Amino acid sequence: MSTIDEVKARIDIVDLVSEAGVKLRHAGKNYTGFCPFHDNKHTPAFVVWPESGTWRCFGQCNEGGDIFKFVMKKEGIDFKEALQKLAARAGVEIKEYQRETPQQREVYDTLRKLLEDAVVFYRSHLFANREILAYLREKRGLTDATIETFGLGYAPPGYDNVLRHFIQRGVKEQELLDAGLLSEREDGKRFDRFRHRIMIPIRDENGKMAGFGARIVDPNDIPKFLNSPETPIFSKGRLLYGLDRARKPIRAADQAVIVEGYLDVIALHQAGYENVVSPMGTALTEEQLRLLKRFTRKIVLALDPDTAGQKAVLRGLEAARSAMDREGELRFDARGLLRNEARLQADLRVASMPDDLDPDEIVARDREEWKKLIENAKPIVEHVMVSLAEGKNLNDRRVVNEIANQVLPLISDLPTPADREFFTQRLARFLKVDERAFISAQAQGPRVRRPRQQTEKRQPVEKSTLAVAVSSSKLVEEYVIGVLFRKPELLYRLDRQLQEYGLLPLNVQDFDFTDNQMLFGLIRESVEQDKTEHHTFVAEAVPESLLGLSRDLLAQTEKLERVEEKLLEELLRSVIKMRRVTAGENLNQLRFLQEEAHQAGDLRAAPYTELVLRNTKLLRDLDQAYRKMSQKRLE
Ligand code: UTP
Ligand code: MN
Repeated sequence: MSTIDEVKARIDIVDLVSEAGVKLRHAGKNYTGFCPFHDNKHTPAFVVWPESGTWRCFGQCNEGGDIFKFVMKKEGIDFKEALQKLAARAGVEIKEYQRETPQQREVYDTLRKLLEDAVVFYRSHLFANREILAYLREKRGLTDATIETFGLGYAPPGYDNVLRHFIQRGVKEQELLDAGLLSEREDGKRFDRFRHRIMIPIRDENGKMAGFGARIVDPNDIPKFLNSPETPIFSKGRLLYGLDRARKPIRAADQAVIVEGYLDVIALHQAGYENVVSPMGTALTEEQLRLLKRFTRKIVLALDPDTAGQKAVLRGLEAARSAMDREGELRFDARGLLRNEARLQADLRVASMPDDLDPDEIVARDREEWKKLIENAKPIVEHVMVSLAEGKNLNDRRVVNEIANQVLPLISDLPTPADREFFTQRLARFLKVDERAFISAQAQGPRVRRPRQQTEKRQPVEKSTLAVAVSSSKLVEEYVIGVLFRKPELLYRLDRQLQEYGLLPLNVQDFDFTDNQMLFGLIRESVEQDKTEHHTFVAEAVPESLLGLSRDLLAQTEKLERVEEKLLEELLRSVIKMRRVTAGENLNQLRFLQEEAHQAGDLRAAPYTELVLRNTKLLRDLDQAYRKMSQKRLE
């Protein structure tokens, strides 16, 4: 999902289609041109919807889709190739979701088991060491229950404690190395990776062991934290520390809080704030946000003021990217976060920690203070605004200009006009300047090429509700696919009901987006065979490029309506809704096409008249079905 959506977000369909040689002209809020897929240079039947990133040919093809479908058709390539091509164009790296083969799975399970044994090993050394225990209890204020719950341990000094312990028990050196418990010298000699450190087990969101974070005991040792190396089961960009314990509380609170340190997570959980997780010394990745979004869309970043301050804001997205793998501070990249926020439809806020304190110090000094800090978290733009102004003289025009120049680009990145307007006003009031001053300022500023904005420049009159409407129709699509993905056998019953209401069975063309179309194809295939259980069939047939999407779908449909009749009704309702939106959009567009044809002298515009009739009838049928459904419910 991540790659596909990112590519979609970065490529402007109008650019793409234009570059393929299709001359596009404005027609209402959309664009029309001659269809590149069939031969007709008289009537422009090809329509592009920039907001949803989709197209449709109202002529001979009578087909539509998104950027992927366009490239697939135009170049005769398959989805995977189209994805590669467009990802390259968008500068998006394709993350391969490798399916775990049964053999790999066995290997990984062995590694996980080994790590579990290591937890026990380190734990026994902790409870044998009074000094370290005293540090955790007294200096860090941790209770024994917390130490147990989080499985804390201690790696003794010396280069071969782990090595000898496990070799004696028949474990191979190579396995210890693969699990990240040993390091290897250049001459091939292997030794304990973690020595004289407090060991913090890191588990994935399902509680399976993944690796360790290890904190120094001796303040002179470096680095302060040493993590497991990247292994197939330990990937810092993909895991969030504490999520195994936090996922339920996050769901319950409908909010997740991200802090910077392991020990902060532990202290906050101990204080009763259990919806807290942390990354592991790297910048927050989109994948991590996505992972959290399975549990809530409301995410608060608790950052210390330095991290979130000026330097970080100035750094561009590229800089943040290349610095991502460096260990150490959590990087705050406002622009990157805003993009993710929009793309993931998340609600990201920032809470700054006062007095240079870490979260664990804050809860230690006043438990209630934490709650208030989180309640007062601010939207990203506002946070940037306020932290840039800190300690500055806002009566100085140069200061005001400087701040405006940094915040305005962020504002213009916001997805909806309503948000942009809101924060522009807010900024103006905050800087005590006239909002109109910004309009010229924004026009002058050097512009980075941003496809999204170009689209908007072409269509300055845009209603704020549009973006919402588009994304909600995308959500409906995803819901339908999500339910059917989990329960393909419902498709039969859905089709039957559709037909009872005089409607066509569900088909590929009901979906705007290529990834959904492809999954639907598999779902259809699955019910048309009877060798394999339906869901298993689909899950096994999903191409690698769609594994991310399918994983998200499964997560989203974890809690489905139990009563199958109700679920079916929801499905039916959703399909009707999808079709109504499409038919409505089509009608709107057809009116433009008709008019164009009239102006061009084709007074009958016959093909369009026919389509108008068809879509009008469809709308009527859909409404009728909807009414009947509601009646049936009342009976
Ligand atoms: P901090 O230095 O703020 O540590 O690093 P902390 O968690 O507050 O620990 P205490 O309170 O000093 O004991 C924050 C996080 O950054 C990562 C770790 O994940 C750490 O928890 N980090 C830090 C590293 O990965 N490597 C480092 O060398 C330092
Ligand atoms: Mn700390």
